[in-house]
Amino acid sequence: MLDVVDLAYCYGSRKAVQQASFSIQEGECLGLLGPNGAGKTTTISCIAGLLSAWEGNLKMNGEVFRPAERKSDRCKLGFVPQDLALYPKLTAEENLRLFATLHGLKRQQCEQAVKEKLELAGLTDRRGDLVGSYSGGMKRRLNLVAGLMHSPSLVLLDEPTVGVDPQSRNHLFEMLLRLKSEGVALLYTTHYMEEAQRLCDRISIMNEGTVMATGTPSELAIEAGEEGADLEQVFLKLTGRSLKDV
Ligand SMILES: Nc1ncnc2c1ncn2[C@@H]1O[C@H](COP(=O)(O)OP(=O)(O)OP(=O)(O)O)[C@@H](O)[C@H]1O
Ligand SMILES: [Mg+2]
Repeated sequence: MLDVVDLAYCYGSRKAVQQASFSIQEGECLGLLGPNGAGKTTTISCIAGLLSAWEGNLKMNGEVFRPAERKSDRCKLGFVPQDLALYPKLTAEENLRLFATLHGLKRQQCEQAVKEKLELAGLTDRRGDLVGSYSGGMKRRLNLVAGLMHSPSLVLLDEPTVGVDPQSRNHLFEMLLRLKSEGVALLYTTHYMEEAQRLCDRISIMNEGTVMATGTPSELAIEAGEEGADLEQVFLKLTGRSLKDV
């Protein structure tokens, strides 16, 4: 569904992404793993059209993909940012209505989507409360469904489970598995190896702006010359053991 070929991006003179290539199929979850500063958020931001002036090629179903410039491309894309993108002084319902309106949903579609997504997030009973009063898990669940109001076919998720308890994490996973079963393609960044193993069909390992390898955990182990090793060992082999964000 999505092909990312030789993506590169610089912030001024800092090369944040040097060489990122991978593909995601319909109904597939591709994990993007990498140490702090590897370039995961930058990669996602380029695909989402939040950053321009990147190099390389992005294609959706074989056609050039430019969500920043084309509404038809934007409609296909859902984005769940690393930093919560919610309005604390609005209720959950008002937040979702706002996101739906931004995506151009008409009144009736909007009300239907708000109702459905509140249910999906397990927040129907708390829909009238200000988001500023929500727990971390509730905010993360709402942040996820806010990116789904327009029923996108590709969803980019940047560390969607940071700071949530096991119950909310499990709920988020169930939402994502349901999306996958409906044919939605997911690009998922995380630092949690067990999450990647549970949710992702394949994993791309990124280091210092470069996607070094893509495959199932056992394929990655073979590629790293560590057959039978677990994902964390493979990750450390491919990305090194020194601190990355100093
Ligand atoms: N707005 C910015 N201006 C300048 N440099 C930036 C900016 N955003 C990110 N960078 C740099 O680009 C590189 C990649 O950062 P990015 O946020 O994409 O990494 P990441 O893999 O998402 O890291 P993390 O796991 O910590 O979220 C880092 O060296 C970072 O310091
Ligand atoms: Mg990041």
